[in-house]
Amino acid sequence: MISILIVVLCLGVGLWVIYTILSLAPWFPTRTSDLERIGDLSRLQTGESFYDIGSGDGRVIFALSKRYPKCHIYGYEMSFLLYLYSSLKSKFIPSTNTSIYWRNGLTQDFSKAAVVYVFATQKTLNAKPMKNVIRDLPAGSRVLSYNFHIENWDGEVLKDKPVGKTPIYVYTKK
Ligand SMILES: C[S@@+](CC[C@H](N)C(=O)[O-])C[C@H]1O[C@@H](n2cnc3c(N)ncnc32)[C@H](O)[C@@H]1O
Repeated sequence: MISILIVVLCLGVGLWVIYTILSLAPWFPTRTSDLERIGDLSRLQTGESFYDIGSGDGRVIFALSKRYPKCHIYGYEMSFLLYLYSSLKSKFIPSTNTSIYWRNGLTQDFSKAAVVYVFATQKTLNAKPMKNVIRDLPAGSRVLSYNFHIENWDGEVLKDKPVGKTPIYVYTKK
């Protein structure tokens, strides 16, 4: 009986992991050495909101909340274990401006976003769910994409690529 339960549990977790991979990307964290650059490129103003779609272990959220204590920093993570880990971590990091949710980050409301950060794959970044997110972003908001680029962006694009570093693309919504 117990072995059947374990098999069912492993299958469930396996399917869930495959789903997150197909939906956005597997868990592959942003390099710690790039967190400051993400903070620089975000250029948040007091009261603005930053969202990490697929927030993983929360490293981007925590770095941004420290850098911008007067802004609100949101994370949506689909993997329950990563959500749990980052939520527990948030209890030990003294910040009042972070919110982490166990949700599909591609179906949320970003109408108040100033910056949306995403580390997806080239394929999912350019697939319909992400296109819908971009379509509904407010004018003037920015999408920061780590390593991968959005194809056929209609508007201003900045590619930040210091020597030896991972590119970060900054797209401004018209
Ligand atoms: C490449 S990792 C990036 C993690 C984090 N943003 C960082 O930069 O360190 C992608 C994350 O997205 C999560 N994910 C995949 N599909 C998702 C979805 N539809 N909604 C929310 N999170 C998702 C994965 O579980 C994984 O943690």
